[in-house]
Amino acid sequence: MNKERKLIIAGNWKMNKTAAEALDLVNGLKRELASVKEVDIVVCPPFTALDAVSKAILDSNLRLGAQNMSENGFGAYTGEIAAGMLKEFSVRFVILGHSERRQYQKEPDALISKKALAVHAAALKPIVCVGETLAEREGGRTEQVLETQVTGSLDGLSKEQMVETVVAYEPVWAIGTGKTATTEQAQSAHAFIRGVLVRMFDDTVARRVRIQYGGSVKPSNARELMSQPDVDGALVGGASLEVRSFADIIKNSI
Ligand code: 13P
Repeated sequence: MNKERKLIIAGNWKMNKTAAEALDLVNGLKRELASVKEVDIVVCPPFTALDAVSKAILDSNLRLGAQNMSENGFGAYTGEIAAGMLKEFSVRFVILGHSERRQYQKEPDALISKKALAVHAAALKPIVCVGETLAEREGGRTEQVLETQVTGSLDGLSKEQMVETVVAYEPVWAIGTGKTATTEQAQSAHAFIRGVLVRMFDDTVARRVRIQYGGSVKPSNARELMSQPDVDGALVGGASLEVRSFADIIKNSI
């Protein structure tokens, strides 16, 4: 597939897999995906499996991501994880502002932007998630919600930091529900987000930012979604937990 931006497909394992299970999964992925050069492939295990996974993927084309990070450096923040801890395991990407954290941990846009700045300060790359709920879509507020989340969560980033940031559009109603956004809904939301980035930064920056789609991505729908001009990859939940389905999503997207 000939794309303006290199595809980036990431597996968000959420709160799944022990370290031993994580090793089985990445060893399978390494075997299946060794020859893939056209896509940036990222796996985001839970913190407790970062050590095992980072060693297993050392000489492979898989890159490592974390699912969250503190906005603070080392210090008295019980239960939190600092950038310096992630860097020890060669983490390259950090998912921020996932809708589950927005919902369960009540993370607001202002906190997500602080975390994004901390991720960049550590020379890591954030994957910043945005997306509307079903009620917001049905109420005709999708674009308003996306504009608020994009401007709030990416507030204060420099142009140089923005081009090293990945945005993930994840409509909340499509996450874990088996309901995928239609290709038209995905393309339209992605183009809208890119337009917000043009206004916040400029056209050159916006054209370089990769925007992933997330929400019930499967081997059967990956190709059509990835063929949309503003869809530059996927953030995969459930289907990233099995070698077969995650590998097929990547192979079907090339
Ligand atoms: P599913 O692929 O399970 O719908 O999850 C999407 C997601 O939330 C990825 O971050």
